[in-house]
Amino acid sequence: MSKAIKKNTIQLKFDSARVYEPAIESKSAAKIKPVYDLFINGKFEKPLSKKYFNTINPASEEILSSVAMAGKADVNKAVLAARNAYERTWKKMPAAERAKYIYRIARMIQEKAREFAIIETLDGGKPIRESRDFDVPTAANHFFYYAGWADKLEYAFPNRKAMPLGVAGQIIPWNFPLLMAAWKIAPALATGNTVVLKPAETTPLTALKLAEIIQEADLPPGVVNIITGAGDTGANIVNHADINKIAFTGSTAVGKIIQRAIAGTNKKATLELGGKAANIIFDDAPLDQAVEGIINGIFFNQGHVCCAGSRLYVQESVYEQVIQKLKDRMETLIVGNPMDKNTDVGAINSREQLATIQRYIKLGNQEGAEMYQSACALPKKGFFCKPTIFTNVAQSNRIAQEEIFGPVLAIQSFRTDDEVIEKANNTAFGLSAGIWTDKGSKIFNLTSKMRAGVVWANTYNKFDPTSPFGGYKESGYGREGGLHGLFPYVKLV
Ligand code: NAI
Ligand code: MG
Repeated sequence: MSKAIKKNTIQLKFDSARVYEPAIESKSAAKIKPVYDLFINGKFEKPLSKKYFNTINPASEEILSSVAMAGKADVNKAVLAARNAYERTWKKMPAAERAKYIYRIARMIQEKAREFAIIETLDGGKPIRESRDFDVPTAANHFFYYAGWADKLEYAFPNRKAMPLGVAGQIIPWNFPLLMAAWKIAPALATGNTVVLKPAETTPLTALKLAEIIQEADLPPGVVNIITGAGDTGANIVNHADINKIAFTGSTAVGKIIQRAIAGTNKKATLELGGKAANIIFDDAPLDQAVEGIINGIFFNQGHVCCAGSRLYVQESVYEQVIQKLKDRMETLIVGNPMDKNTDVGAINSREQLATIQRYIKLGNQEGAEMYQSACALPKKGFFCKPTIFTNVAQSNRIAQEEIFGPVLAIQSFRTDDEVIEKANNTAFGLSAGIWTDKGSKIFNLTSKMRAGVVWANTYNKFDPTSPFGGYKESGYGREGGLHGLFPYVKLV
């Protein structure tokens, strides 16, 4: 190899974060209305509350749209619409007919995939590559998957009859707005329930786009109602006497409030709450692959992932090597404009969430851990955070115990299997974990002892509609996805 080429190759390795020309997705391929009303009984209706709030693009702080704030009377109206649709149409409809509607929604999401991806990225700040390649196709796949179950419930529950519960109140967060709507709505409809869904206040737009599709798909009015608002709207849904089931994904704090609110009622609930997943690297793991898994585990979607691999445990003999590889890889991450197809790490979802993350970064430093951040420059406008890792972390440090929900990784080393199992299990959460090793026996040993709902082996953040997802301990209860995801929406007789 000539000297010139050699030099070039080395330069490429270290400059690779900068060698791509920008490839900006076009905003004009998506239609965002200046004002959105509430989707109740098949129509967009002005809120009785007469109130609206703005949703912004967290990458630019520009206002995207003004969205209705549902008050108590609006929640009542939506629940009534859902009840009437349940009693008069949906529960009586042959299951195969219900399935057709759900398939139709799946196909229409696919047809409008590009528009959904653009809106998701503008409203929430996640990289367009993720919205395009993960969120939107996975959302469509959930509708396809559950459409398939609608007329096969007798096989899902052999020798039992699966009856719907009635009206489901569904409250979702801002990290995977369309995908969480799909996780909630698809199994509810497949099992014959009707729905009142509330998206998060910072990311309402793809759910409202979904409402347009549901209208176009000609679903019987009231089967799906989508109402926007903040925590009060959510609380009004939870406390409504005519709701039969609550499905919530969000913070553990709100999950506890919901649990208290429904205690002593007949409401069924699934709660999918926070996490503090351990990603465990053994010395026999393929290290380059493992480093990709670490990067994916914590920097994917800016760490706004309940199952983010936010704790890293590296076996002592490869510790230095893994940390060096990780730092090198962090330097090649492209942080910035989420609409650029090259971007790896986009915008933090809100000013409040950025402040929370920055508080934890400060705390990590105060607790005596050693910080390393990517050298990248951050955009001047919008909410951004550098990919951040902490070494010299103690198990008792708050950055190792609490959910940060940002691109911040707490790293520790370990020597033996038993030690790492104990450390991994030593948090209040138990949603997910990752194991990297060449040995199948080690994988089986660890998965059987880890108290985590999902354990990935030699991969991370893999999702499929057919596999169940959910937590242990303060990560919540109930399962979504797969055959298991049908169960919370039925009573078996
Ligand atoms: P949050 O739990 O307040 O919000 C989630 C959803 O619940 C939103 O739709 C919100 O409007 C609604 N909500 C808020 N208060 C409610 C109440 N009293 N009754 C019913 N619904 C209510 O989460 P937030 O404040 O946006 O984020 C705070 C922290 O929560 C994050 O830093 C992160 O640690 C965690 N979080 C975890 C998520 C997960 O996927 N497990 C998702 C979002 C946040
Ligand atoms: Mg927004």
